[in-house]
Amino acid sequence: MDGNGRWARKRFLPRIAGHKRGVEVVRDLVKQCIKLKVAYLTLFAFSSENWRRPAEEVSFLMGLFMQALKREVAKLHQNNIKLVMIGDRSRFDAALIQEIEASELLTANNTGLVLTIAANYGGRWDVLQAVNKMQQALPQLAGHYREEHLTPYLSMSYAPEPDLFIRTGGETRISNFLLWQLAYTEFYFTDTLWPDFDEEAVNLAINSYQKRERRFGRTSEQLEVNKNA
Ligand code: IPE
Ligand code: MG
Repeated sequence: MDGNGRWARKRFLPRIAGHKRGVEVVRDLVKQCIKLKVAYLTLFAFSSENWRRPAEEVSFLMGLFMQALKREVAKLHQNNIKLVMIGDRSRFDAALIQEIEASELLTANNTGLVLTIAANYGGRWDVLQAVNKMQQALPQLAGHYREEHLTPYLSMSYAPEPDLFIRTGGETRISNFLLWQLAYTEFYFTDTLWPDFDEEAVNLAINSYQKRERRFGRTSEQLEVNKNA
């Protein structure tokens, strides 16, 4: 979710106004995903590199995060949404960790949209923590690990790999998001700033995705044969 600061600057507002607006966009996007029957929505809210921002901005973002959880979780629960947070929580303060755990627990058995928030997340961190867990669980296989040994330990082992990756705000980078899981994901980059990422902008992204041909290494001809089979 990129472009909150620029959105605010264009309006001569402080950066934090952009972040506030960004939360509203999340709310609308969740509604749209339910309408479109999207099964998994994963949002990169705060990267492990975002701690490098000015202290006031970091603490505002943490506050906003806490506030959003407190205000929204009951509504998420009513809408059968399952909320999961991925990332290294150890750096958050105790109250926030408690709020996250309570929100996850409340919505754990919901069967609708799975909303994952990546906070203090990094793709490299994810792969490394999985490698360490795998090595502890399966020391006898050292030197012979395969993909299926690692994937159960990745943060998002509960979800299929993403179909579509969207980056707003004009940047064309992954910025250490789900590195392992994005191997065959379709990428969509847009100049639209996150606070302007409305229903129409989402539809444009989905339309673009629907035009892609996902070959997973195969040829177009092979896909045609399967389609007709
Ligand atoms: C994304 O918007 C929000 C977070 C990383 C929390 P930015 O804050 O990166 O906005 P720009 O890139 O400065 O416009
Ligand atoms: Mg940015």
